[in-house]
Amino acid sequence: MSSPYLQGDALNAAIAACESTLKATFGDAPRVAVVLGSGWASASEQLSDVKRISYAELPGWPVPTVEGHVNELVVGTTPGGARVAMLRGRAHTYESGDCTGMAAPIRSLKVWGVQALVLTNASGSLRAANPPGSLVLVSDHLNAPQRSPLVGLRGMDRFCDMSAAYDAEFRRAALALAAERGMALNEGVYCWALGPQFETPAEIRMFAAWGADAVGMSTVPDTILARHAGLRVACLALITNMAAGMSDEALTHELTLKEAKAGGARASGFLSAYLDRLAVLPSLQ
Ligand code: HPA
Repeated sequence: MSSPYLQGDALNAAIAACESTLKATFGDAPRVAVVLGSGWASASEQLSDVKRISYAELPGWPVPTVEGHVNELVVGTTPGGARVAMLRGRAHTYESGDCTGMAAPIRSLKVWGVQALVLTNASGSLRAANPPGSLVLVSDHLNAPQRSPLVGLRGMDRFCDMSAAYDAEFRRAALALAAERGMALNEGVYCWALGPQFETPAEIRMFAAWGADAVGMSTVPDTILARHAGLRVACLALITNMAAGMSDEALTHELTLKEAKAGGARASGFLSAYLDRLAVLPSLQ
């Protein structure tokens, strides 16, 4: 199957065009951008002085097909005063089988001048200590499908180092903020499952044996693209359910959306305060 996304020279040309459009629409790049996953949309509703552009107006950006995503880029200021970019909607590999759908957005952000990418998602939990409604700070990931958005690229930089993919300083900042707010926040390993079907209980037992703490259908291709582009990465997972076989509840997309909505306001409040913290890190000035 041919890719639904631009590749090679066409992708490079699209990214150059995006850089001009982003500058013309928003001016200078904010230091931090956020990909809002399921449940996290309300974070963008808390921004003021907002400007927005639809993905459809940015060459090469995907038009995702998942219910609950809006597909626009919003730039604005958090209640705490941090200027940020928020991507409302992401391409998932399960939509097309192609894992390069976020290449244009992530590389456009980098050439525009963004330095850090905060990824958010909805996940299933493999740990009783992280029940539905809780957040997990991703410390590392498992690429279970062993798919890479860098396949087919040329040059040495495709062999990019993933040994510290989730930035240690950003993680410390998240843990410190949670402690100050009296909020439980455990670090954990995120396992990417291709989907769109949920996992079997046997798969979840396998992922647990591998060291997974949370499982979801996104994020890992985005992290790889961001690290390859030279962006620093943080990731927060909103737990919407116990993973398959760990509770009596049958897993449905409706259930995860319902739980994402229920936990979303608290998660978005934490995200907003976290972005304020990142904005004052000396290493991001
Ligand atoms: N599995 C995969 N993706 C998910 C889950 C899950 O249990 N919950 C939310 N996204």
